[in-house]
Amino acid sequence: MAVLIIGAGLVGSQVAKILVDAGERPLVMDQRLQRDVLADIVDLDRIDLVEGDVLRPLTLSAAITRGGIEAIVHTAAYPLLTLGAQRNPYAAIELNIMGLANVMEAARIHGVKRVVASSSSVLNRYQSGGEDGGDLSREEAVPRPNTFYASTKQAVESIGLNYAKSFGIEFAALRYCPVAGPWSGPGGGGPSGIFRAMVENAVNGREAVVPATAMEWVYSKDAAMATVLALRVASLGSGVFNITMGRIFRPEELEAELKRAIPGAKTRVEAQPEGSTWSGGDWKPADISRAKKILGYEPHYPMPRLLEDYAAWCRRALPRR
Ligand SMILES: NC(=O)c1ccc[n+]([C@@H]2O[C@H](COP(=O)([O-])OP(=O)(O)OC[C@H]3O[C@@H](n4cnc5c(N)ncnc54)[C@H](O)[C@@H]3O)[C@@H](O)[C@H]2O)c1
Repeated sequence: MAVLIIGAGLVGSQVAKILVDAGERPLVMDQRLQRDVLADIVDLDRIDLVEGDVLRPLTLSAAITRGGIEAIVHTAAYPLLTLGAQRNPYAAIELNIMGLANVMEAARIHGVKRVVASSSSVLNRYQSGGEDGGDLSREEAVPRPNTFYASTKQAVESIGLNYAKSFGIEFAALRYCPVAGPWSGPGGGGPSGIFRAMVENAVNGREAVVPATAMEWVYSKDAAMATVLALRVASLGSGVFNITMGRIFRPEELEAELKRAIPGAKTRVEAQPEGSTWSGGDWKPADISRAKKILGYEPHYPMPRLLEDYAAWCRRALPRR
């Protein structure tokens, strides 16, 4: 299948690698290609690269035509995700929402069969409202996102699903939770960077700071595998899928896993912000049963394996830089 991957960062690079390992040659488009960093993940001789902006419909059209594209994986988002969008809401709204609209419109015009777009598990948490018992005649019946980033991801999901319904494009929005994994350039969200510093420091014998907050994580390789499954599954229909490890790690649990995976790691749990008493409370992990049933998704990297694999990559790849 001829696949266009838009956004060659933490997740997009791993999607490219899985396709290459399966003998495919994806076309990878990014506005700011980090060739050296990408080469740590995937053999650049086995992919086609194009520097291009998803906000430019003609560039997108040219890439689809050039590659005879049948399916698109859209991962491009405004840098630093939640943090970036809180700092620069207008630019994030423009890229995250109009980027997806351009992809769906291009898919419609060029007859692309399937689009798999990145959403986020922020939609499982950063919501307010939903207080009127589902009574749609009441203003607060429907929960609404309470960050700019989450607002853009809600738009991604609903615009994508409406294109699917109206024009027969198959569409999946994958709600990844915070993604951790190999990537040595700018990329990922705030939590991805914190996790990266933690693992790299542990590997290099420096103090590894474990984040103070309980978190749900997913390895970039699992997020990418779920993305490829959504590309390949015979009857996708259209829908939204949670893609996580399926459990929450409290700071002390993550610290214990880190010590287990990287013997001798010097660790410290970050202090809770002053006044914070929150410990995870009744926060439930995302329900991944739908992704398991429809996509055949199964997280292959539970926490100890994630940390071992990531640490092995750090030892292999980082000394070269
Ligand atoms: N990293 C996470 O923790 C996380 C969690 C949940 C959801 N997501 C979502 O998954 C997707 C991928 O995340 P990631 O961590 O790989 O992000 P990333 O920042 O590592 O990669 C995104 C890539 O998109 C590219 N890009 C930015 N603007 C572009 C444009 N105008 N045209 C073309 N390319 C452009 C960037 O150069 C970057 O290489 C995003 O949509 C993100 O919102 C990520």
